[in-house]
Amino acid sequence: MYKTIGIVTGGGDAPGLNAVIRAVVKTAVCEHGMRVMGVEDGFEGLLGSTRTKEITLADVRGLLPRGGTILGTRNRGRFSERNPSGDRPAAVYAEAMENLERLGIEGLIVVGGEGTLTIAADFDHLGLPVVGVPKTIDNDLACTELTFGFATALDIATEALDRLHTTAESHERVMILEVMGRNAGWIALHSGIAGGADIILVPEIPFSMNSVAEKIRARDEAGSNFTIIVVAEGATEVGHERIYQDLGDAFHPARLGGIGIYCRIHLEEITGRETRCVVLGHLQRGGRPNAFDRMLATNFGACAVRELAAGKRGVMVALQAADVVTVPISEAIANTKTVPRDGQLVRTARDTGISFGAPDEDHFHSTTRHCKPTLAVECAG
Ligand code: F6P
Repeated sequence: MYKTIGIVTGGGDAPGLNAVIRAVVKTAVCEHGMRVMGVEDGFEGLLGSTRTKEITLADVRGLLPRGGTILGTRNRGRFSERNPSGDRPAAVYAEAMENLERLGIEGLIVVGGEGTLTIAADFDHLGLPVVGVPKTIDNDLACTELTFGFATALDIATEALDRLHTTAESHERVMILEVMGRNAGWIALHSGIAGGADIILVPEIPFSMNSVAEKIRARDEAGSNFTIIVVAEGATEVGHERIYQDLGDAFHPARLGGIGIYCRIHLEEITGRETRCVVLGHLQRGGRPNAFDRMLATNFGACAVRELAAGKRGVMVALQAADVVTVPISEAIANTKTVPRDGQLVRTARDTGISFGAPDEDHFHSTTRHCKPTLAVECAG
């Protein structure tokens, strides 16, 4: 049995991080009699003179609904550096391993997405038992049906779509909402369905601008004089590259962004319709986790401690068939989980009149195209 375990939060923040910390501390202290050391500023807190602090039961009081992470986090730091042959920075890891030993940290709970869990797997290989907890608003981690943070981001995006509906209707405008998600379209797809979008653009289905314009025209002809589009930041037009707002460097990942404005300019040009774009940005990540994320984060945190205490290592807790199980971290980071192009949700979206702007989209929307004007109003929603 470990006397002291550590916890580190890495990558972009997500609603529910503090709920995980609270659950880890409560479970470790009350159920297993262990001390919990918090590592600050992602893995960077393990370097130099170290930035760590014991987290007690008193420290986690009132933490459940708080957004962000009390430990701080970092998107990319010295542990992510790779030499030209792709090797990890051995000296950086050696320094951290020495510090962990000096601090008496015998096992580590690592809360993060794919990048953070890749570093976690490295520590496990070096001999420190690690259990991962899947976090990201993007929901793009493999082996788990859901990551915590996603449900809250979805609520925020859906509410934004609800609000955009009334202004779009009043002004008879095309409104575009750009949402996050990196190279996966989960936030766009789920919020688009929940928020009644007319067009959803996701990275997994490259779109044709003409096909999107055609859907706008079809809605106008059917008497619905406004259109709501939700576009994932990683979506691309057929034959074009992803749009970035920042290409990044060794210490900062490239940042997607700009596809919403790009669509606004081109669609306005093609359709002549007044069009506006809203970029939802970090509002999707900040603030209080919703009820589901608090529950999921708590369950993940408690299960992670139980697994570590039971001697498991190199695994990530994961949600599968509504149960928390463990999967090897190596499997979770091997591939990102993206939206299946022909999956059930994409089909459901199409069946309910939503276009993905695919070049062959007409093929999926034959009902809307062929219905009589009176019926078309119903079809176009
Ligand atoms: O991975 C979470 C995420 O919010 C992505 O959806 C987005 O592309 C990225 O992080 C933004 O990162 P940053 O906070 O560095 O701007």
